Formats: sequence, structure tokens, C-alpha cells
Amino acid sequence: MKKRCAQYALDYIKPHSIIGLGGGSTIAYLVEMIQAKQLDVTIVTPSVTTAKLCQAAELTVVPMSQVDHVTVAFDGCDEVDGHLNALKSGGGIHTKEKVIATMADDYILLVDESKVSDTLSFKVPLVLEVLPQALAKVKADVLRLGYQVTARMSATSDGYTYTENGNLLLEVTIDSGTCEAIAQQFSAIVGIVETSLFYQIATKAIVVTTEGKRIIE
Ligand code: 5RP
Repeated sequence: MKKRCAQYALDYIKPHSIIGLGGGSTIAYLVEMIQAKQLDVTIVTPSVTTAKLCQAAELTVVPMSQVDHVTVAFDGCDEVDGHLNALKSGGGIHTKEKVIATMADDYILLVDESKVSDTLSFKVPLVLEVLPQALAKVKADVLRLGYQVTARMSATSDGYTYTENGNLLLEVTIDSGTCEAIAQQFSAIVGIVETSLFYQIATKAIVVTTEGKRIIE
């Protein structure tokens, strides 16, 4: 399914363009296909893993810091709704992903039906990238809003999970609320760098189905 989804994405790539590629296994298939078809494109990516795959495939990768616009960017996500609001959670690189998403004319999510819902159900937590110095303050703000919040833990010296930007990752359980309200509530908290809710950013989702594909746009 993921391979087929990546195949459909090829139709949206213009030759000689700079394209954004996010992280995940569907994007990994897309890298393979770009190489196989010898498409003449330059790639910008927020993902170290995707960058390594591109370099192994001898594709040109430019640093994010040098790019301000791409015609199209592709990404996976954990959940997307019928209004193209999306939730990402796993990788902890959502801030960089959002930077590329918002420099793209077209930000296209590559998913299968299992990731699509009418409205986001927040099956996975909302992830916050937080300035380490703002940890206690952000946790208190989130608790005051009535949500449960925990720090993502890992095997670092202090147990916290740090992003490649040196920030912390917090996970928030969302039980109710509209995407619009949630996006507004969290964007108002000083100390949060970005959340993993992509509210009104995606322009399309290519949804691979057993019969073929459908496009949400
Ligand atoms: C992590 C993400 C990834 O982009 C997403 O999980 C990738 O999915 P897949 O491996 O199914 O292509 O949003 O938070």
C-alpha cells in the first residue's frame, strides 16, 4: 500500500524542481522511486534518515536553512481528517516538518485509509516541542487548560527526550475539542516551539485504497 501511495505521488513532481520530503516509510519508498526514475530534482528534508536515504541514492540534498520555497512537499502523518488537519507524533521532528510544509505551494500527505477520519480523534498524543527552560511553565499551562501532559522519556542522562534542536518533547492526551480550538490554545502558550497538530496546512492527501486511490483536497 505504501509503495503504491508513493507511486501516485510521483505525478505531482515537476522536473528540475526543489521538493520537500518528510520522514517515514512511505517517503522512503518515494526516494527509491525518484532514484529509479532518475528524476532531476533537488531535495530538502527535515529528516536525518530521509537525508541519508537520498544521499545513498545519489540525489541532491540541500540544507533547510538555504531554502525558502518549494513547489511541493510530501510527508506522512499519523492521522488526517476530511478537512486536511493532520496529526504527527512519532518522530519528534514536527517543527522542522512544519517549516517545510509551510514553505510549500502544495503540501501533500501520503496515507492509507486507516489514517483517515472525519475529524481528528487524537488516537496518538499531541506532541509539543518545548524550550527546556519553559518545561515547568508549559506543563502548568497545559494542566490549567484541563489536559493530561507527560514528558516523553528516553535513555538520556536526565530521562527526557530531546529533539535535534535541543528542546524537550511533551505528550498531551486530547479527549475532546475542535482542531481550531486546540491549535489556538497551544499556539498561545509561550515556551512551546511548535505542536504536532498541522491545522489547515496540508493542501492534499493521497489516500491509497485497495482499489486505487482517492484524493482529499
Ligand atoms: C511521525 C510522522 C511520520 O511522518 C509518519 O508516521 C510516517 O508514516 P509512514 O511510515 O506510515 O509513512 O508523522 O510523527
